[in-house]
Amino acid sequence: MDIRRLHHPLVRHAAQGLHTFNSRHPWSHNDHFHGWILANLPARRVAAVDIGCGQGVLVAKLAERFEHVHGTDLDAGMRIEAARRTAALANVTIDDRRLDELAGPVDLITMVAVLHHLDVEQALTDVTRLLAPGGRFLAVGLAAPGSLRDTAWDLASAVTNPIIGVIKHPRPVSGGPVPPPFPVRDPELGFDALQAIVAATLPGAVMRHRLAFRHTIVWTKPALP
Ligand SMILES: C[S@@+](CC[C@H](N)C(=O)[O-])C[C@H]1O[C@@H](n2cnc3c(N)ncnc32)[C@H](O)[C@@H]1O
Repeated sequence: MDIRRLHHPLVRHAAQGLHTFNSRHPWSHNDHFHGWILANLPARRVAAVDIGCGQGVLVAKLAERFEHVHGTDLDAGMRIEAARRTAALANVTIDDRRLDELAGPVDLITMVAVLHHLDVEQALTDVTRLLAPGGRFLAVGLAAPGSLRDTAWDLASAVTNPIIGVIKHPRPVSGGPVPPPFPVRDPELGFDALQAIVAATLPGAVMRHRLAFRHTIVWTKPALP
């Protein structure tokens, strides 16, 4: 059940009020996880790739920690924005290379709100090919709500969203909701279906529900014996 799609008038009214409140205290559900990514970097930090880098916010942060960072995005507007943001960083490349066109090995692959834009099995297979032994895949994702557990996490995300908004952005803004600054799409796979693919492709990966309507995936490619 998707609690964001309930149609009872009272629920709709409450949801509209919450939506208006949230738009006055905006925060990025994606950038929120950058701290988690930076806290889970692999030991070797030569090359990192951020797939679907959007405006390049994470790329700029990774550039302080890796010898080279490659941001890719299919969208030309995003690439212009990411290139502008990282123009002063000599160790950053931004381009439109697709995952299956990339050559490894790399030490880190990140995807923030991107995996549901891709063919998941193919993308995760490319991750196993590209990562160096000991390299790490860190993903922040969205899944379609399916199980009761998903609904409970959505509910918890909806309740905590305005609280986090007030903490992160205490001064309310006016002007109403602002559309997302990057291309978006709705996820089709539910958490459990995605977890089954992750388990089959990345044995030992840890996938967890998170607040902010997100989940995280961590996988470290086994080091060579
Ligand atoms: C929801 S946005 C997230 C952007 C960024 N990761 C962030 O956290 O702000 C998804 C991004 O993935 C990009 N994208 C979609 N399909 C892609 C693909 N096959 N290869 C690279 N980027 C892709 C879109 O253009 C978009 O910028």
